[in-house]
Parts: sequence; C-alpha cells; structure tokens
Amino acid sequence: MLDSYHRNINYLRISVTDRCNLRCIYCIPEEGVKLMSHKDILSFEEIVEVVKVGVKFGIDKVRITGGEPLIRKDIVSLVKMISNIHGITDLSMTTNGILLEKFALLLKDAGLQRVNISLDTMDSNKYKIITRGGDINEVFAGIKAAQEAGFSPIKINCVIKDNSAEKDALAVSHFCKLENLEIRYIREMDLHKGSFSIVEGGDGGHCYTCNRLRLTANGNLKPCLFNDLEFNVRQFGIKRAFQKAIVQKPKCGSKNSKNEFNNIGG
Ligand code: 5AD
Ligand code: SF4
Repeated sequence: MLDSYHRNINYLRISVTDRCNLRCIYCIPEEGVKLMSHKDILSFEEIVEVVKVGVKFGIDKVRITGGEPLIRKDIVSLVKMISNIHGITDLSMTTNGILLEKFALLLKDAGLQRVNISLDTMDSNKYKIITRGGDINEVFAGIKAAQEAGFSPIKINCVIKDNSAEKDALAVSHFCKLENLEIRYIREMDLHKGSFSIVEGGDGGHCYTCNRLRLTANGNLKPCLFNDLEFNVRQFGIKRAFQKAIVQKPKCGSKNSKNEFNNIGG
C-alpha cells in the first residue's frame, strides 16, 4: 500500500526477541536495558497473523531480527511458518552469527532465503571488546555453515565509526572479497540523538524511498526507526495498526526516544 508520500510499503522487519547473547557497546548501554516482560512478547501465531494481514496491505518481503533472533526458542518453526505464507517472496534474517553454525542448514531447509551477519572487525580481541565477551571464531564458523548451507548472497553488516576506510572495516572488506560475501557498512547511529545515516551498499536510511515497517517483539508496529510513533497490534487490532502505521509514516526520520537497537532490530 502507498503511504502519504507515495512510497510503496512492502517490507516488514520483525524483531522476535529483545534479548541477545552479546552486548555490543554501540547497541546495549553499559548498565543494561530494561527487558520486555514475557507476557508482552507476541507468540508465533500472533506474528504469523500480523504477516498474513501485512500481505493484504502489500507486504511481500520480511526480515527476522532481534535482539538476536536465533536465541528465540524454536525459531526454525517460525521461519517455516512465515515462509509458508502465500505472498511472502523474500524472507531473510539478521543475526550476529554466534549460533549460526548450529542453525544454518535448519534455517535453509525451513525456507529462509538470505542471511545478514554482523562483523565489525577481524581481530578476536577487538571483537571481544566490541561485543563485551563474544568469540569471533563462532562467527567464522557460522559464516562457513551459511556458505555450506547454500545461502546466497550472504551479507556482512559492518558497523563503522565514520567511514569505510577505517582499519577494521578494511580488514573485514578484504575477508569478504576472499569469501565472496557482500559487505554493508553501517555508520554507528544514536537513536535518541537522531543521528542516522545511509547504509553504504544497502538501502536503509534513504527516507524518500523507505519501504519499511517494523514490528517489535512486544507487538508495536512502527513506521520509522527514528520516530516514536508505534501502534500495538494487540491494542489496535492488526488491521488498524497497519492502517495507522502506513498512513502516519513520517516523511523523514527524526528521533527515537523510546527504543534501543536491541529491541528494534537495527
Ligand atoms: N548504530 C548502527 N547500527 C547498529 N546496530 C546495532 N546498534 C547500532 C548502532 N548504534 C546494528 C548493527 C548490527 C545490527 C544487528 O544492528 O548493524 O549488525
Ligand atoms: Fe546483540 Fe546485535 Fe545488539 Fe550486538 S548489535 S548486542 S549482536 S543485537
């Protein structure tokens, strides 16, 4: 469906959990974050219902995010349920890759088409610092498993401070060339201050052509990452939440004072 600025809204990003097995410094504040209460988290049945109603509004592309989506219990079943929905032609996931070695083949068999894996450095010590304790070798094993499972293209999300010529970004870029992975540079953003930017190599951040809506794990349908508008699908009903989110999608992003990256999914 077209929004008020004639953008065709066809892409839904679904955060399935606000929890994560890493605590990246640019995503989760030192003191931690207030986590959602379990009773507020949408069930798989509710998520599927949201996607089915979304299809009627023109959604044909879905990305599963988190937090870290692979720590949501039985995530493979949800992938299967969504991939079976008639009208969804593109199903992808953004993951930190830590658990991908175990899940890659299962996800592929369940109908997942593409994966984006986060990797900001090639240095294992630096990775430990950035992620506050993560083991980079698990990510490499995850990438390998994704390649062996036949995912293509495999994209690497690389968060940069300023530009893609930074030392860590160059090293990741070199690795991507060798391994035939597509790199995307994402400048570090601050939701609260409203500093957002385009994704080099991706299509995020171009407000003029933005085609997305987001669904948080607790059922808030959000028209824009950098805006506080949200319409809870339990409160408004799914159909009305979609109508409101599409009609009220802002022309351009500004500020988000309510969410953190961990609960809105990057
Ligand atoms: N700025 C930019 N991207 C972020 N992500 C998380 N926090 C931030 C931030 N502050 C993105 C990263 C990561 C994905 C899961 O979320 O791209 O790869
Ligand atoms: Fe987890 Fe991704 Fe946030 Fe890192 S950036 S803490 S991997 S959700």
